Amino acid sequence: MTTIPQHRGTLSTTTGAGHARIWGVGGYRPERVVTNDEICEQIDSSDQWIRERTGIITRRYAALDETVVDMASAAALEALKAAGITASQVSTVIVATVTHPYQTPAAAPMVADRIGATPAAAFDISAACAGYCHGISLANDMVRGGSATFVLVVGVEKLSDFTDRTDRGSAFIFGDGAGAAIVGPSDYPGIGPTVWGSDGAKWDTISQRNSWIEMRDKEIAWPAITMQGQSVFRWAVYSMAPIAQAALDQAGIKADGPRRLHPPPSQHAHHRCLGQAAQAARAHCHCPRHRRHRQHLGGLGPARDPAHARLG
Ligand SMILES: CC(C)(COP(=O)(O)OP(=O)(O)OC[C@H]1O[C@@H](n2cnc3c(N)ncnc32)[C@H](O)[C@@H]1OP(=O)(O)O)[C@@H](O)C(=O)NCCC(=O)NCCS
Repeated sequence: MTTIPQHRGTLSTTTGAGHARIWGVGGYRPERVVTNDEICEQIDSSDQWIRERTGIITRRYAALDETVVDMASAAALEALKAAGITASQVSTVIVATVTHPYQTPAAAPMVADRIGATPAAAFDISAACAGYCHGISLANDMVRGGSATFVLVVGVEKLSDFTDRTDRGSAFIFGDGAGAAIVGPSDYPGIGPTVWGSDGAKWDTISQRNSWIEMRDKEIAWPAITMQGQSVFRWAVYSMAPIAQAALDQAGIKADGPRRLHPPPSQHAHHRCLGQAAQAARAHCHCPRHRRHRQHLGGLGPARDPAHARLG
């Protein structure tokens, strides 16, 4: 038997825009250019090896006193300008990062305050390289669901703070930077359906070496982020094509429609990996070759996609 609640009105719910789109993007690259030769001062490697394996020629490192919030705010201001809206029109700020060095507060409310977007709702998401895509997907649903009008999505990392410069398996790949996008209402569908998922069983393929608790209780080194390169590489090559096909199917577009294939960052971070994954995807999707900016950015995690979009 269903019990009907007494003396309670019907809830009102929000109604959002019919569609959402990206109104503008922005990016920020720190000044300091770090060459492969500089990286090789601390690991047994070479400029040639790094170029051949990853495609990376240089990456940027933020200054010691330059924070995730600084970089995110610079990218956000550029995105606002590109979108032609003011900070006061932003109703939600989402920051995707894994290198904001405070457990709390999150970086997003600090960014909102810095750019004058208060009292926008603001929160961080921790999804590493996939963080920006998660943010865009959330923003899309928020605009269409009516809980936000304009959403600022920022992907930002200061990976130089969490890189073990003596680790031969990862020191060459990470860099610093920020990218941002404004998602807002649209008369036409500007953001396609999201095909997403996770595989927590592979948690240790890219992970912080130790937890903060272990750091507190044991005499261990700084818990940098480490990577099992081969496992990431294999996962990237074999899983991307079916995911790309599912996204095309859900969006209802033909395989030769997209002008660019933008693989998720883990696939993108490695030259051969990217080549093979794109080739595999083309076998399913016939997507034309996409452009690459990674050569001078390195692995930027969630900052990569908007930063690339800004570079064109
Ligand atoms: C990290 C990565 C470049 C390593 O390349 P790889 O070809 O898989 O390297 P391997 O670990 O298999 O090692 C191959 C050889 O290179 C050597 N090697 C490993 N690291 C090296 C380095 N930094 N410099 C020079 N040689 C190195 C190994 O000792 C090994 O030598 P051997 O054949 O004589 O035994 C590659 O696995 C990769 O890009 N994975 C994906 C990374 C990624 O996308 N991460 C996402 C985060 S942004």
